[in-house]
Amino acid sequence: MIHSVSSLENKINDSIRKLPFSENPQTLYEPIRYIMSLGGKRLRPLLTLMSANLFSDNIEAAVSPAVGLEIFHNFSLLHDDLMDKADMRRGKETVHRKWNDNAAILSGDAMLIEAYKYIANISPDLLPQALSLFSQTAMEVCQGQQYDIDFETRMDVTETEYLEMIRLKTAVLIACALKMGAMVSEAPETDADLLYDFGINIGLAFQLKDDLLDVYGDPKTFGKNIGGDILCNKKTFLLIKAFEKSNKTQRKELDKWIEAPEFDPATKINAVKNIYDELKLKYISEILIEKYYLAALDHFSIIHVSDGKKKELLTLAENLMYREK
Ligand code: IPE
Ligand code: IPE
Ligand code: MG
Ligand code: MG
Ligand code: MG
Repeated sequence: MIHSVSSLENKINDSIRKLPFSENPQTLYEPIRYIMSLGGKRLRPLLTLMSANLFSDNIEAAVSPAVGLEIFHNFSLLHDDLMDKADMRRGKETVHRKWNDNAAILSGDAMLIEAYKYIANISPDLLPQALSLFSQTAMEVCQGQQYDIDFETRMDVTETEYLEMIRLKTAVLIACALKMGAMVSEAPETDADLLYDFGINIGLAFQLKDDLLDVYGDPKTFGKNIGGDILCNKKTFLLIKAFEKSNKTQRKELDKWIEAPEFDPATKINAVKNIYDELKLKYISEILIEKYYLAALDHFSIIHVSDGKKKELLTLAENLMYREK
């Protein structure tokens, strides 16, 4: 039996709604309840359940690790928004803005610990490999986040370095979510690994699209402030390509804004965006997104599961390419 995306979303949201997070001190748990209740796409748990469903009709055993991965993802957002000085997430104030920096740090830490609890809630036979996959993934996310921060103050970041950074900070968690589902359903290892590679490519496309939406998205739909990456001098694909393709005048303008110690945020965002527009970087970015999407499909197509069972996951992957949020 194939579960529809909407029925799986309901299952995930029900489970998340029932999470306790109600011990004392309330000041520790309130930010956790807040971020978890703001929704978001619930992409990672959805991928875990859909991947589990490829190999088993019964997906109940995958629900706890799926929820654990969503808690982990939300933890990473509390710390990420603090690191990126972001004021808005999912259309609402970020935790460090609504409360303070300490709330984002400590409630985040508590969430990381909770994440482990839910992920470890699986059959004892599967526990060692599931924990090893998750620990490896969580460490890689830290590595990716550190590269992301280190790159803010570097001017010579290459496209290859950028791709490795987004593989670590974003793609590995998406890949882990898919592999976790396969593992819980005791899928053949080759198929679990193919799902992981599918996830890496979907994840690279996903972060490229996130960088694009950070400049070209509609804040009402996207739920985050537009231009945050430009203000932080994030070395996104767009900025790296702008360095590569700019003429002398454009490069001087870019350097001026990147080095400016003080500036009006909207003016800086506009100036940098204008250069991106002149260089047609949105289009160039979309071509790369398509490339990773197609590479993802190559891995997916050779998984030993019927086309009928694969359909939902394929549609979800396709929808991600056209997402506006
Ligand atoms: C945001 O992830 C962080 C990135 C990896 C870009 P999502 O875009 O999945 O955020 P939510 O969970 O839907 O809010
Ligand atoms: C997010 O990268 C990666 C993680 C949260 C680990 P971003 O910093 O681009 O994510 P958003 O745009 O704030 O969601
Ligand atoms: Mg961020
Ligand atoms: Mg970030
Ligand atoms: Mg972003």
